[in-house]
Amino acid sequence: MQHRGTDLLLANKLLSEGKLVAIPTETVYGLAANGLNETAVAGIFAAKNRPTFDPLILHVASIDQAKSLCTEWPEMADKLARAFWPGPLTLILPKASHVPDLTTSGQPTVGIRIPNNQLTLELLRELPFPLAAPSANPFGYVSPTNAQHVDDQLGERIQYILDDGDCSVGIESTIIAIENNIPKVLRLGGLSLERISEVLGIPVQEQLNQNSNPQAPGQLDQHYSPRCKLIALDQIAAETMDPNASFMFFSKREVVQMPVNTDVEIAHYYLSNSGDLSEAAASLFSTLRKLDKDHRTLVYFEWAPNEGLGRAINDRLKRAAFQP
Ligand code: TXA
Ligand code: MG
Repeated sequence: MQHRGTDLLLANKLLSEGKLVAIPTETVYGLAANGLNETAVAGIFAAKNRPTFDPLILHVASIDQAKSLCTEWPEMADKLARAFWPGPLTLILPKASHVPDLTTSGQPTVGIRIPNNQLTLELLRELPFPLAAPSANPFGYVSPTNAQHVDDQLGERIQYILDDGDCSVGIESTIIAIENNIPKVLRLGGLSLERISEVLGIPVQEQLNQNSNPQAPGQLDQHYSPRCKLIALDQIAAETMDPNASFMFFSKREVVQMPVNTDVEIAHYYLSNSGDLSEAAASLFSTLRKLDKDHRTLVYFEWAPNEGLGRAINDRLKRAAFQP
């Protein structure tokens, strides 16, 4: 059996047997299993080494299927789903009773989205159940944006990786909860708050979750972290910079001169050549992985402009750089 490819029948068969399959989405690759089968879902937590207090998102093929998984479908949810699905938006809604508690980590709500990837959509349309899928990385590490990333770290624990190349968005979905007709963002992501507000006609409240916030258990201070140490350029004085460190910039620029005299060649990484936010988001996680592949131990990085997708990029950078 090929371990990686585009065999939808095989993916369907494995998932129907309660096994794990990695799936491509436009945001990041997911580690999928039958979201209504508790044993299958337990397999996801085990493979990722993920604490069971961190709930999973259910992936569906249609708005009707989404409605079948929750007990309320507010008008705002309908507006957002129609405007942005398939796409990088997860809606948090009161869960239907047949959604297992393990899937939602005991929360009374469930996260749902329609991902925008043709292979995965085709798979979802054929399956009689939704797919629970967290990002397909070991808990706490950088999320995978291509099949090789998944294979590198979880290959031995997954029977099959559905391979559709690089993810187009490259950063996880934006998570929106709707409570009493108030939209709240729980995680910044691949859909900007500006676009969401535009459709709703009102601003989105921010409830960007910390460690201590029981509403969004997955938003830990430290997450998405490569092995190498990351320090923001605005948090280090030029005189104290390590001459052996590398740099990661938001956009392409002239080679940096270190303040200290050195013969060491300084490595530079760029999130986007042209300074484009979408391009930077799409390359963020693979660049973080590259730092580890290149055996960098210390990298000074530049923040993205703090608007649109830049806010989600900075959110990931902040957590990736967090030192306990
Ligand atoms: O783009 C994405 O959302 C990707 C792809 C694979 O779809 N998935 C993803 O899943 O990022 P994961 O498990 O790495 O992050 C999902 C986060 C959880 O950490 C949790 O904070 C939040 O979604 N979440 C899920 N269900 C929730 C709920 N009922 N209430 C609050 N937060 C929830
Ligand atoms: Mg994740």
